[in-house]
Amino acid sequence: MRETFLPFAKPDVAEDAVAAVAQCLRSGWLTTGPRTIEFEEIFKNYAGAKYAVSFNSATAGLHGAFAALGLKSGDEVITTPMTFAATLNTIIFAGAKPVLADIDPKTLNIIPAEIEKKITAKTKAIAPVHFAGRPCDMAAIEAIAQKHGLWIIEDAAHALGAAAGGRKIGKPGGAKRAAVFSFHPTKNITTGEGGMVCTDDENMAEFLSVFRQHGMSKGAWNRYAAKGKTHYDILLPGLKYNMMDIQAVIGISQMKRLEAFNKRRAEIVAQYMAAFKDLEGLILPAPVKEGDTHSWHIFTPLIDTEKLKITRDEFMKLMGAQNIGTALHYQAAHLFSCYQKSYGWKQGDYPGAEYAGGRIVSLPLFPAMTEQDIQDTIKYTKQVIEGNGK
Ligand SMILES: Cc1ncc(COP(=O)(O)O)c(C=O)c1O
Repeated sequence: MRETFLPFAKPDVAEDAVAAVAQCLRSGWLTTGPRTIEFEEIFKNYAGAKYAVSFNSATAGLHGAFAALGLKSGDEVITTPMTFAATLNTIIFAGAKPVLADIDPKTLNIIPAEIEKKITAKTKAIAPVHFAGRPCDMAAIEAIAQKHGLWIIEDAAHALGAAAGGRKIGKPGGAKRAAVFSFHPTKNITTGEGGMVCTDDENMAEFLSVFRQHGMSKGAWNRYAAKGKTHYDILLPGLKYNMMDIQAVIGISQMKRLEAFNKRRAEIVAQYMAAFKDLEGLILPAPVKEGDTHSWHIFTPLIDTEKLKITRDEFMKLMGAQNIGTALHYQAAHLFSCYQKSYGWKQGDYPGAEYAGGRIVSLPLFPAMTEQDIQDTIKYTKQVIEGNGK
């Protein structure tokens, strides 16, 4: 057993970020302000989008992006059952119904042909999720969206630094597009909590910047500053979703390290892939499609329950007993009681997501992992799988 607990993820915040937070706290300006605007500029330039609008989480950003579409009761948004509840919940809060299209259990991403099957007159948008940082088949999804005049709201929570067919996720590459990133502490960069929406659509960007701050007319963030405008209008019923400068300074520091973070993630994954390649009982992530870049937010093999006596849950427990943290991303969304009650979804509806959701496990993966951390993960994974419950 390993001496100390190895978490499955751990943020790496540099001293310059710590100093910048302290400076921000001392400055007297804590909430949305110049540093948030600076972070948005840096992010926008990195992604290659016309607009980057920050939020206090990706959930808030997704809510904003779906709300911007003006969805009405009865409207439908097609998404994947292999995602976090935030994707579905924000569609629901924006007033529409989530409609699911199954995934390919090899890539864990939504299947374009399944999307096409689910399109009706009520469909307004497609919300693909780049699972674990593996880009969805965006060429196929864009073709479907264009054919039917639909928006694409990409849930890019996992995909900062990923690219589909050489184009960065976040660079819209067309009309009616937005991509939403997360800066939760387990993600490729963190701001503690935070999110960003990238789009080329001026109306979408305008809506988002108003929606995230109560619906106040733009610029109201500085209403308490010496030269700020004291009066404002309420243009629409917005929410309190703005990012604070305290968060943004962490993001500014993290963006400088993103490329190095992602390179390190890829190196660790390469070590895992080599170490586990002949390990019977562990189904490894599929190779990355040529021309794509995977951002490796998480490393998610499947426990081959056809070959092993242990279940995925038993695997997680046995790893925990060796002080190795694991996590579950995700259980198939259509099996949660809330959605079953609302939409009548049931076991058997999405076999790809059920297969993956019953077998998937996230092993430790974060840039600050030491060689010992990697070797311990490999050693105990092999030990548990080869031990097969004995
Ligand atoms: C696929 C996906 N979408 C959305 C979110 C929500 O992100 P946040 O925690 O920043 O709201 C997450 C968070 O884990 C996620 O994994």
